[in-house]
Amino acid sequence: MEVLQGDITQIKVDAIVNAANTTLLGGGGVDGAIHRAAGPALLHACRELHGCDTGKAKVTKGYLLPARYIIHTPGPIWKGGDFNEGKLLSSCYQSCLVLADKFHCQTLAFPSISTGVYHFPLIQAVHIAVKTIIEYLQKESKLRKVFLICFDEKTWKAYKWEISGWLDQTE
Ligand code: APR
Repeated sequence: MEVLQGDITQIKVDAIVNAANTTLLGGGGVDGAIHRAAGPALLHACRELHGCDTGKAKVTKGYLLPARYIIHTPGPIWKGGDFNEGKLLSSCYQSCLVLADKFHCQTLAFPSISTGVYHFPLIQAVHIAVKTIIEYLQKESKLRKVFLICFDEKTWKAYKWEISGWLDQTE
């Protein structure tokens, strides 16, 4: 697993993950950036998917992106923590990892799902993301590398800190 600061639309991997909403018809944040960079064909493809439940994931081609595929997953909107938000966020990561394997991806890049417009507390979200990814990769997976692409330094530091904590545990 590797944490990078940057723009996920520029990353050349087999699949990038889009922090979408349940309509899958685009929005702001990373969703807007991905739709702008992938081009209008992405919206046409998403219309055929007829939405996606929170915590689930659906795949499209990457169109004009360097990535071959886009895996769209609606993260949970933070409502205080008593509405299964943690389980739903973990399910987003799990669903994307399963789909990446199903599409024989060797490399995959995640944004920080739900920690923008959806206001999921960053430190909690980072712990859930890293734990879910590490536990998945310890099982049977063809994924060679998972990137966490952070748009801002605060998110990048949070992921670096969390991963260093996991590495200390395994040493
Ligand atoms: N590359 C990588 N990360 C990005 C990019 C980008 N180009 N643009 C934004 N981000 C980061 C944000 O800084 C944040 O850390 O993605 C993370 C998730 O933020 P949002 O994009 O706001 O996603 P989320 O919190 O899951 O909210 C989803 O926002 O854009 C709408 O349609 C989307 O309704 C959905 C909601």
